Amino acid sequence: MTPAGRVLERAGMRVLVSPDHVSTSRLAAQRLSDRINAAVAERGRAVIGLATGSTPEKIYAQFVEWHRECRLSFRDVTSYNLDEYYPISPLDPRSYRSYMHRNLFFHVDIAPDRAHVFDGTVPEKFAPAHAAEFERWIAADGGLDVQLLGIGRNGHIAFNEPSDISDAEALRLPARLVELHPVTRATASADFGGLDRVIPRALTLGTAAILAARSIVIVATGFSKADVVARALEGPMTAKLPASLLQSVADNVTWVLDEAAASGLG
Ligand code: F6R
Repeated sequence: MTPAGRVLERAGMRVLVSPDHVSTSRLAAQRLSDRINAAVAERGRAVIGLATGSTPEKIYAQFVEWHRECRLSFRDVTSYNLDEYYPISPLDPRSYRSYMHRNLFFHVDIAPDRAHVFDGTVPEKFAPAHAAEFERWIAADGGLDVQLLGIGRNGHIAFNEPSDISDAEALRLPARLVELHPVTRATASADFGGLDRVIPRALTLGTAAILAARSIVIVATGFSKADVVARALEGPMTAKLPASLLQSVADNVTWVLDEAAASGLG
């Protein structure tokens, strides 16, 4: 915990608040690396779920720095990324596979065949089978020791987008091919050079696999997330705001926020 940080609790979930993006990223990196080291100490390996986007970039930079200082190893780590655009080549710089390569995989000692990202090149008729096999691999690896999440401005986690399905259904969504929500597409438009160029579909892990993780660290920074963070933490659990579904596994969830993202909390 950073000296300047605060600890809150909302809906039974732990909420750590740090002054800014840098201290928040460091705190999240510390919690994740503690989980990795604990799992490796307990059973010789760790299985982790990873996210992309702007929020985790500094977390991965911290991992790389600790790795260079020989304070963190990924030798015994297996990773599964939350999502990937579809269709997309892994070589496309906008793919999440290349994001992970640039920000983490290339710089640390993770085994390439244990760093899993959905394959955005599978033929469409095999996409459901590929999504299902991704979940089976996680289960066969013993489940996720820790899942890193960001939160979309519309409250999505991974690419589980807001919807009108029942809450019971929303809690057990499988890995699958999805259509991106208009807010998600608008947010991605800068990366793609225009809204009409955003790839409108993605393969995503479902809520079922995410909520089954033994621990979940969800990170948000900046004023643009303040409103959605407050609704996820203090509002009702609803499929209309997928991050609120984390309340169903409250004991396993830690939110790591900067003061700006926490500024909407009552
Ligand atoms: C990315 C992912 C998304 C992001 C979310 C926040 O793998 O699953 O749910 O975590 O869109 O993105 P940023 O961090 O860019 O605000």
